[in-house]
Amino acid sequence: MAKIVVTGKIPQVALDSLKSVHEVLAWDKETPMPREELLKRVIGAEVIVSLLTEKIDEEVLNKSGSQLKAVCNVAVGYNNIDVNACKEKNIMVTNTPGVLTDATADIAMALILMTTRRLAEGERVIRNQEPWAWGMFYMLGTGIQNRTLGIIGMGQIGIATAQRAQSFGMNIIYTRRNRMDEKLEQSLGAKFVTLDELLSLSDVVSIHCPYSKETHHLIAEAQLKKMKKSAYLVNTARGPIVDEEALANALINKEIAGAGLDVYENEPTVNSKLLSLDNAVLIPHLGSATVETRTAMATTAASNALEILKGNKALNPVWS
Ligand code: GLV
Repeated sequence: MAKIVVTGKIPQVALDSLKSVHEVLAWDKETPMPREELLKRVIGAEVIVSLLTEKIDEEVLNKSGSQLKAVCNVAVGYNNIDVNACKEKNIMVTNTPGVLTDATADIAMALILMTTRRLAEGERVIRNQEPWAWGMFYMLGTGIQNRTLGIIGMGQIGIATAQRAQSFGMNIIYTRRNRMDEKLEQSLGAKFVTLDELLSLSDVVSIHCPYSKETHHLIAEAQLKKMKKSAYLVNTARGPIVDEEALANALINKEIAGAGLDVYENEPTVNSKLLSLDNAVLIPHLGSATVETRTAMATTAASNALEILKGNKALNPVWS
């Protein structure tokens, strides 16, 4: 029986699968576990099942001890974990790819529609009981048919977003480290371009790359200036990929038409300038927030933990 520390509340089915074999110390509140509590709890753990709200850094690894075998993140992004420190200590890191692809792509598509069709703004009018009437020129948005969607980071979620956008009649361009398979490009009608080309050609830019040192503020003032004045920016990946202050200024100065954000630089804080802007759609990190997806994410992380503790290979290692 190994000690497993679960850093946040996860669906019962995943917890039960861990508890049926091991000793599990699980945080059972909806709010994130305080740091001091985390540092106490991880002592002696063989596996940490982490949520993206907990930073698993060198201090946590050292506190835990040399018996620590793995950190199994309940997320596809794992920028909350110091992967290099884990590698050095031979601690496996796993994530949950695949199971949240559709849910996150749905949210990206929703934000594309919300921004271009001014849906949040319209909803505020009704809720605030402001006067309104159907009018030929009332609250007009922008149609997305035959417009260009630029995808930054064409991984699984980028591809799923492209497929959705394609069915809405959008043309797809993309940028990523390597060009993708020609057949896949053809099926999406997607064209590989540089980041600069993507920024200047897109009517909507949607971010789907992982967050790392290399992608920190990938979209900052200079990049926003390269976008069309009529273009929209959507981010369902990680907040710090975008310089939020620069984005707020670009929206205030109408350098771009709008933005749809699911993620923020300093979650749960949101840059206060954004709060009063009608051309910003702001939702609270809901990319993977469906019952089905969160259950699948937690059971995937639990399966990784169980396999590793059996001495088997991890199912979803972030490196091999
Ligand atoms: C959610 O944001 C995830 O990375 O899984």
